[in-house]
Amino acid sequence: MNPLALELNQLLDGSVAGRMLSDFGRRLYFPKGIVAQSAEAGARAHKFNATVGMAVRNGEPMILPSLSAQLPGLTPREAVAYAPTAGVPQLRSLWLEAMKAKNPSLNAEAISLPVVTPGLTAGVAQAADMFCDEGDTIIVPDMFWGNYRLIFEERRLSKIRSFQFFSDEGGFNLEAFRKVVTEEAAHGQLRILLNFPNNPTGYSPTVHEAQEITNILVEQADKGADVLVLCDDAYFGLFYEEDTYGESLFAPLSQAHERILAIKLDGSTKEDFVWGFRVGFLSFGSAGLTAHHYDALLKKLAGGLRSAISNSSSVGQHLLIHLFTSPDYASEKQGCFLDLKKRYLRIRDIFQETPPPPCLETLPFNSGYFMSFRCRGIDAEQLRLSLLDEGIGTISIAGGYLRVAYSSVDLDQLLELYTAIFQAAEKLSATGS
Ligand SMILES: Cc1ncc(COP(=O)(O)O)c(C=O)c1O
Repeated sequence: MNPLALELNQLLDGSVAGRMLSDFGRRLYFPKGIVAQSAEAGARAHKFNATVGMAVRNGEPMILPSLSAQLPGLTPREAVAYAPTAGVPQLRSLWLEAMKAKNPSLNAEAISLPVVTPGLTAGVAQAADMFCDEGDTIIVPDMFWGNYRLIFEERRLSKIRSFQFFSDEGGFNLEAFRKVVTEEAAHGQLRILLNFPNNPTGYSPTVHEAQEITNILVEQADKGADVLVLCDDAYFGLFYEEDTYGESLFAPLSQAHERILAIKLDGSTKEDFVWGFRVGFLSFGSAGLTAHHYDALLKKLAGGLRSAISNSSSVGQHLLIHLFTSPDYASEKQGCFLDLKKRYLRIRDIFQETPPPPCLETLPFNSGYFMSFRCRGIDAEQLRLSLLDEGIGTISIAGGYLRVAYSSVDLDQLLELYTAIFQAAEKLSATGS
């Protein structure tokens, strides 16, 4: 193993992070190669800096004028230069500040600095690379973003174990969660992924449920299990009901127990409505980790990024710095939030006025971009296809569920959309297909 990896492992040994690293995670290190040497030169090479593979003229990166004309608010460096492997430092600090503001109970002094990833997908994949091995089990609710299968099962050869997401009463199924967690904890290690607001259901836990989820995990940590929790917060902040827990579970979990390692995967993709920018963040937090541990973890993560994507989009990161420091940012974002909330409330009204037919059971939803129906006695794929014949696109999941991304449909079109869904479902139900 590379001596730099051994050094980092030594720093992490004895901590929850050290115990839970995958084989690949243990091998990771950040090389003292081109990137590290250029960083050193950036500070000391005051005559000529002949380190980086970029084309520079008069101290500025070359940029084609037709391109800079499209980006008048950015300097050439902001627009086209490479960003550091872990992201532009100012953006990382701004995101940490934002995390504090959005999660008042977060102990921001006791977590790592966020690292930039090219979207949340890459963040989840990096976390999986670092902490999931062949044969490891990762627990997720039975309604989950399909890409987790590719990431955990195919890339990492780990096993996804799911539990029934919703109780009969229509909330987060704490009993099912407790059961699966207790069974898996018997092996000494727990790996869990929680995504709120959830894709595909649009559900986020209530304040009580969030507390109980934390308590259940602390119980297992108390009994000696090491616990890794990945918090996929892609749709963070889009909470439409008063009793919904308004913070990320990362806030309590990152300070809950020295045997619990929480990883927050979040980003601007959905939160700031910049899906194609490819800017996400990964942050580590655990009551068992100190600044030295975080430093070692960040170096390993930087090694993971360096070996897979090298660095994230510079232009996206710099545009976001400008956005976050704009005086209008908060109000503009609130405007988009209110638009989505109005759609959510409109759907609630539509369902009051015209309840969905019995063949469509509405799954609990209170947040995010989506809502889903469980199809009863009809095939979700058939329903999707018959809606498609009418020019309406929806997503069928595992033959049993229909996901509707109401985030993509204007307020005044929701009645027509849901009327068409209900009619198509009733028709299928009547024909018995
Ligand atoms: C739950 C969840 N996590 C992660 C992602 C991926 O986000 P990104 O586009 O930033 O990779 C998505 C996108 O659909 C998602 O629904």
